[in-house]
Amino acid sequence: MRHLIHFKDWTGSEILELLEKALHIKKNPQQYRDALKQKTLVMIFQKTSTRTRVSFEAGMTNLGGHAIFLDWRTSNFLLADIKDEVRYVSGNCDIIMARLIHHKDLLEMAEFSYVPVINGCDDRYHPTQAFADFLTIREKLGGIEGKKIVYVGVWNNTLNSLVDVSYKTGAHLVAITPVINQASWDQELVDAAEKSGFLKRSDDLRGEVKDADAVYTDSWVDMEFFLDPKFEEEKKRRIETMLPYQLNKTNLQGSKALIMHDMPIHTGYEIDREAIEDARSVIFLQGHNRMHGEVALVMRLLGVI
Ligand code: CP
Repeated sequence: MRHLIHFKDWTGSEILELLEKALHIKKNPQQYRDALKQKTLVMIFQKTSTRTRVSFEAGMTNLGGHAIFLDWRTSNFLLADIKDEVRYVSGNCDIIMARLIHHKDLLEMAEFSYVPVINGCDDRYHPTQAFADFLTIREKLGGIEGKKIVYVGVWNNTLNSLVDVSYKTGAHLVAITPVINQASWDQELVDAAEKSGFLKRSDDLRGEVKDADAVYTDSWVDMEFFLDPKFEEEKKRRIETMLPYQLNKTNLQGSKALIMHDMPIHTGYEIDREAIEDARSVIFLQGHNRMHGEVALVMRLLGVI
């Protein structure tokens, strides 16, 4: 049984092949209308979500399956041990998607589950987001190998998954990250990506975007801390440090790169309204590709494709 915790145990060709499959499913939905018939996905959320919840649920419905939403706070995951609750839940469904705060809890869930577990974003990785992002790049630019992606923002869970996919699929990723979320840091991943020659660290945003194929930003503060008064000081510090790196007309001058953001957007912080609405922006396509990527991942883990 295979889980999707991250892409570390996937090869580049496996990822590229599944991206092609996802594109095929997107373009030929009628061929897959019953592909997940009588399959049940349980979605467990310990954190807020718009896209992850909507896309997984709509994706299961579109392919003839069913999704059950479980809020951590109104289920007995709140009170009991993960290993016990997940053995119960996984006896009633075909696959689980879990958005948990801590990576160690996701690992425990996967260890005790009787069915595949998909990481719906924890403090270390966000694999389904990265898969949709590369699906978007493939769809808009016709390929991934040799493309240059500039990520500007805080080093976080999403960036780890972008790094994981990019160096395996032959995309060059430039990371401009003046701030690091320590909880997300994965030295083994960074070492492997740097050794491959496909990951570069830089602080020259204006220089790097000039020949970039895509420029990507993300929230400076993780969702679980965004409204937390205890994080207020750190939030202020990050805004001060990061504002010069905002995606806006000045910083994007001379660039033809796709403008990417995984959403939710904090307008006026990591990106301004003009850049969101720019003709180069593929932000909403990225969001809509979450569903197309996720159904391909679900089908692959269930052995349907
Ligand atoms: N990008 C993303 O994961 O969106 P949600 O937090 O809304 O699910």
